[in-house]
Amino acid sequence: MFKDKILMITGGTGTFGNAVLKRFLKTDIKEIRIFSRDEKKQDDMRKMYSNSKLKFYIGDVREENSLKDAMQGTHFVFHAAALKQVPSCEFFPVQALLTNSLGTDNVLKAAINSGVKKTIVLSTDKAVYPINAMGISKAMMEKIAVAKSRITTHNMIISCTRYGNVMASRGSVIPLFISQIQNGNPITITDPEMTRFMMTIEDAVELVLFAYKHAQNGDIFVKKAPACTIQILVDALKKIFNADNPVEIIGTRHGEKLYETLLTREEMEIATDLKEYFRVPADTRDLNYDLYFEEGCEGVSHGEDYNSHNTQRLNIDDMCELLSGLDCVQKSLRDEKIDI
Ligand SMILES: NC(=O)c1ccc[n+]([C@@H]2O[C@H](COP(=O)([O-])OP(=O)(O)OC[C@H]3O[C@@H](n4cnc5c(N)ncnc54)[C@H](OP(=O)(O)O)[C@@H]3O)[C@@H](O)[C@H]2O)c1
Repeated sequence: MFKDKILMITGGTGTFGNAVLKRFLKTDIKEIRIFSRDEKKQDDMRKMYSNSKLKFYIGDVREENSLKDAMQGTHFVFHAAALKQVPSCEFFPVQALLTNSLGTDNVLKAAINSGVKKTIVLSTDKAVYPINAMGISKAMMEKIAVAKSRITTHNMIISCTRYGNVMASRGSVIPLFISQIQNGNPITITDPEMTRFMMTIEDAVELVLFAYKHAQNGDIFVKKAPACTIQILVDALKKIFNADNPVEIIGTRHGEKLYETLLTREEMEIATDLKEYFRVPADTRDLNYDLYFEEGCEGVSHGEDYNSHNTQRLNIDDMCELLSGLDCVQKSLRDEKIDI
């Protein structure tokens, strides 16, 4: 299926990049280009995979020229490069804007000019009703992607995927809680009632591959996901590790929501339910102002958004089952060191 095809993954040295490239290395794909800034991460990957299908490109999504050179001959692009930590984006919002929003504009310009057939742009639940700089920069990223989809040439497809926190990815609370448990420290939680969608990295890869296979231009795809409260997450981890660490409630942090939303109520009104996924088509209406003021959608007024409070809720046993499958949990149970 991928014979003679070249895939480029921006941010290919990250959690998603590694997971998706493992899948593609099992196919007949001709080449996978990893595009990112840090040569150390690339060098580690080069040695780890030692696979001639992998080609490494040092570059920065902020520099269009570095993208243009790397994208020559590429058939499809997964755009995963991002600044994704809420606190760093909060302190340096212009950096979030440059990488997440304008960087995406550069990626899409380079893709359009290089004749790329499909580009899938990775977004996050934090882009929906955003309250922090990271979410705002990702919301702008989505707007840029949908706007670009209106002007693509050569039947190119641009699509976005949105997913919630990947359990145990870099910056996730799960490795932090495990380390607190193992060091005999209190487990620090912000608000026990806070809910978060629970997804594995495999779910994220499946979502992007689903978008790759089924997207029409400008679509946004969301994977339906269960959620749990932070209290249940902690209780499940304590059960797995047979721990009795005290819990310290530290209060909600800057830019942190009580629950996350994957689809707005406006999007729910137009979304197609595809069993495991929602597909939100691009707004292709003529955005002239008369229509904008005169035409509305009544259903929106009665609809609900899709969020981590109203999705399927997991209990402690469900969470134990999910957590037990994670690499970092298995390593910790074997007393091996994990990255926090
Ligand atoms: N992990 C999650 O929980 C989660 C949830 C929802 C959505 N997402 C989205 O999924 C995507 C991938 O996330 P991830 O977990 O794989 O992130 P990650 O592990 O932090 O990896 C980010 C990647 O982006 C690269 N990068 C950062 N700035 C760059 C720039 N200016 N130019 C080129 N490359 C750059 C990094 O490499 P260098 O530093 O070497 O450049 C790294 O390869 C992101 O768009 C993220 O917003 C993630």
